[in-house]
Amino acid sequence: VVNLVADLRAGEFAGAELAAARERIEAAGFAFERTAHPPERFYAWIDEQFGGTWSSEAFAGVNIIASEGDTYAGFATFDPRGLEYSWLRGLGRSPGVGIFGPFGVAPQFRGSPIGPALLRAALASLAASGYERALIPAVGRQKLIDYYIRHGGAVVAERFEREQWRRPRRAIVLASGNGTNLQSVIDGVRDGRLPLKIALLICNKRGAYALERARRAEIPAIALPWDRKALSRDAYDAAVIAAAQRADPELVLLLGWMHLLPESFVAAFPQTLNIHPAFLPLDQRSDTVTFPDGEVTPVFRGARALADALAWGSRWAGASAHRLTLDADRGPVLVRKPLRIGEGEPENEILERLHALEHEVLTGAICRWLFER
Ligand code: GAR
Repeated sequence: VVNLVADLRAGEFAGAELAAARERIEAAGFAFERTAHPPERFYAWIDEQFGGTWSSEAFAGVNIIASEGDTYAGFATFDPRGLEYSWLRGLGRSPGVGIFGPFGVAPQFRGSPIGPALLRAALASLAASGYERALIPAVGRQKLIDYYIRHGGAVVAERFEREQWRRPRRAIVLASGNGTNLQSVIDGVRDGRLPLKIALLICNKRGAYALERARRAEIPAIALPWDRKALSRDAYDAAVIAAAQRADPELVLLLGWMHLLPESFVAAFPQTLNIHPAFLPLDQRSDTVTFPDGEVTPVFRGARALADALAWGSRWAGASAHRLTLDADRGPVLVRKPLRIGEGEPENEILERLHALEHEVLTGAICRWLFER
């Protein structure tokens, strides 16, 4: 990760540059829009086009969007608020510094004038908002760094070694079922993609296959079913919390955990992520969600999300990883992806693709969480 900085006091981003960038986009045959409230379909397009992490970042800022007819072509976000990435904690917190990004151009429009024009329109917008400098994080390739130097007049200002995110973090998993998500994390740890140490599995169903997966991977596991005759709900919840606390986790993963957790759990483990088999809206208060083709469906929260989506007649399913908050299935989304259901596709095939998608979303969310340390 490299942070670049563009000086916005330089004449090139003052006043006229925003209008000039807009003209370049329009002259190339695209519509230009600068908005804090784009339609929800815009965010779903980002998820489909660029992976499931950027939509929530774009949702946190103001967006400049280039489109061709009903087709989105590219976007640049400026001034996203509340992002917790560790690379935003240095220069990113200095007064007068505004954040640039995310920024994406759909593959078929790369090499057109819209990329550089979107970048410059966003930098000019930061200047117009009163920022003196723009922080431009570049995660990954040298090509991107060169792009920001060439088209944004930026210079490299901060460098972060990946090693700082590779210290293994203690995690525990709560699961109730088959445990394919647990398995994907076990595999990710084993092949070095996820720097976690899985310290414990808590399973509330005796005989669940998740327990067997833990046993095979030599992960300590306990079965903690709720015997409703012997224990009140409060007493059971206290036992779950006590078991989790003994493992002293930095991260708690709810991977198909089918028991509603109480407020005291959320308070004890603020670093808890949940995987949910539906495409969740970025505005967690919403009870509808919009897909890339504009289809709007109810939000399928709860324990039967895919079955409910199919019963409703949705042409889409999806997967989301979000933070746990008091309101079940309503915490902020870290990563989400939509899944198009094929015409007449059998449920078992949808489920298989959905599981694979969940594993991808979950890995992305854990990586994002690690980047926030
Ligand atoms: C997954 O589809 C997960 O998203 C879902 O349970 C399944 C567990 O599968 N969780 C929820 O519905 C939470 N509301 P797995 O045991 O194979 O990982």
